[in-house]
Amino acid sequence: MSFDSIKTRPGLRHLRDSISRLEGWWFDLTRRVSTAGVALLDGLSLAGDAKRGFMYMPARPTPVRLALRDLPIREYENYTFVDLGSGKGRMLFLAAEYPFRRIEGVEFALELHTEAQRNIARYRNRRRRCPRIESVNVDAADYVFPRENLVIALFNPFGPEVMETVLRRVQSSVEEHPRDVLMMMLFPEQAAVVDSTGHWRVLRRTRRYHIYRILNNGLE
Ligand SMILES: C[S@@+](CC[C@H](N)C(=O)[O-])C[C@H]1O[C@@H](n2cnc3c(N)ncnc32)[C@H](O)[C@@H]1O
Repeated sequence: MSFDSIKTRPGLRHLRDSISRLEGWWFDLTRRVSTAGVALLDGLSLAGDAKRGFMYMPARPTPVRLALRDLPIREYENYTFVDLGSGKGRMLFLAAEYPFRRIEGVEFALELHTEAQRNIARYRNRRRRCPRIESVNVDAADYVFPRENLVIALFNPFGPEVMETVLRRVQSSVEEHPRDVLMMMLFPEQAAVVDSTGHWRVLRRTRRYHIYRILNNGLE
């Protein structure tokens, strides 16, 4: 029996889901926030034209922490962290354990954005290193990227069409204002879209996440 078939056995899948739920519950309890649970997009008020994207499912803290630890950054104060499809904000609170210049979540569902704002106001944690966390209610395809060095995080928020638009916008923004842009994709389903652009160099590729750096950022 292969390792993969053992991992997908119903009993083990159930155990993994239970551990994941417990991890999420503990995360929320210790930070006084509410990010657990999934939310379908049907019936939510969505910003933008496309009105298409994947449902809300918070990221598991462990893989996010591993990816954050792997970012090739020396001076966090020189980078702004942007989570595209930030939902209720869990990824923002994990990023806040590093001293980023500021952290911004981009969420197109008004109800999830409102919940994120409530969470940001309530969030307390002794590991917090970044004082500025915000959520903005906008479609990622319309988002104007800040003219700062960036870490762009994605946990499978949308399909290839929106991803292509987002990547085009990042690239033209960097052409106009050269700066460093790192991208951190969790369990990436759109990695092929990134690779097909020829504009990103893979810095790290693991089963759980990929880290990229934009090419021709004017700094190399
Ligand atoms: C899998 S969840 C990720 C949640 C969050 N990043 C985290 O790690 O906890 C995907 C999120 O992307 C949002 N989303 C989907 N399409 C979007 C778009 N075009 N613009 C902004 N947000 C979008 C969904 O509403 C949902 O909250």
